[in-house]
Amino acid sequence: MVRLFEPLKLRAVEIPNRVFMSPMCMFLAQDGHPTAWHKVHCGARAVGGVGLVMVEATGILPEGRISPGCLGLWSDDHVASLRPIAEFIRAQGCIPAIQLAHSGRRASLQIPAKGGAPLTVDEGGWTVVGPSALPFTSGYPIPHALGEEELDWLADQYVAATHRAIAAGFDIVEVHMAHGYLLHTFLSPIANQRTDGYGGSWEGRVRFPLEVTQRVRMALPDHLPLFVRVPATDWAAEGGWDLPQTIRFCSALREIGVDFIDVSSGGILDNEKLPTTPGFQVPFAAAIKAQSHIATGAVGLITDAHQAAEIVESGQADAVLLGRELLRNPHWPLYAAAELEASVPWPHAYLRGKFRPK
Ligand code: FNR
Repeated sequence: MVRLFEPLKLRAVEIPNRVFMSPMCMFLAQDGHPTAWHKVHCGARAVGGVGLVMVEATGILPEGRISPGCLGLWSDDHVASLRPIAEFIRAQGCIPAIQLAHSGRRASLQIPAKGGAPLTVDEGGWTVVGPSALPFTSGYPIPHALGEEELDWLADQYVAATHRAIAAGFDIVEVHMAHGYLLHTFLSPIANQRTDGYGGSWEGRVRFPLEVTQRVRMALPDHLPLFVRVPATDWAAEGGWDLPQTIRFCSALREIGVDFIDVSSGGILDNEKLPTTPGFQVPFAAAIKAQSHIATGAVGLITDAHQAAEIVESGQADAVLLGRELLRNPHWPLYAAAELEASVPWPHAYLRGKFRPK
């Protein structure tokens, strides 16, 4: 038996295997609505055998998008346009999941294909927000520091987006707290320099992310799991968010009903130096799993079948998330299963392509 291709059960949801598609923005949405591209992109990976497709960062508000090309769930109209994607993923025996996001001070950017620079209001951009009036880096707008009433209202928008995600047919919601976006900026002392109850100490900095999580959990039916993508570290020389703080935070997340931690890192500093070694974030997933006693997913430079199998087999993580490797090869799980001599069902319509003539 190859554990990588065994099911993972979280609450009442059985994910058929432990190769997940990592969320990846396509920057091709229109007013927050997916296009045919999104259906093909997500659908192809579901056909290719992943156990779970995590739909890209989806804005809980228009101003929570990274760019005008990002998906959204701020209106009931988005429920109807996302539903066919969830349905198609499910029809392949795969679990449809969606990442809910607010980009905070890293919002209001041009799409990467047009350079990715900050957009002024005149160019179709908007006022960005954060815990403190500290920009991401020079050339980026100074965020509006959110007041307590605005935080309460924002938590309500996470709840509304959660209801819509479930109405659209997704089984799993992931709250995005990594990569320098809004909830990460609350966690990290680099971006959060508040002096009220939402900053300062570890307890103050985790307060808003925990309040959002608690309210999202309450909005979800009991039988559906909740994921959180965390930044394991800011990779800051000093004074940033780090692994010991993450481990403590993930224990708190577990206590309020989070089921799975998707372990990433970085994104708060523009000059960070990320390692580029295979599986460089796996030790973070392993430490969180062991010390916060919660299921984890490892992500980042996982590309090889044996590498992925070993991560799960050794108990470092419960699943792996693949990003760029699935862009190169949407059928990666089918190839990996063959290489590992595991059995994974091929789509019936493709069976005639399963075996190469000798
Ligand atoms: C990403 N990533 C990302 N992460 C996230 O949490 N939400 C998102 O919407 C996106 N969008 C996105 C778009 C594209 C084109 C890429 C390549 C990446 C990060 C991604 O999920 C993953 O964590 C990293 O790419 C590292 O994993 P790989 O690519 O080394 O397997």
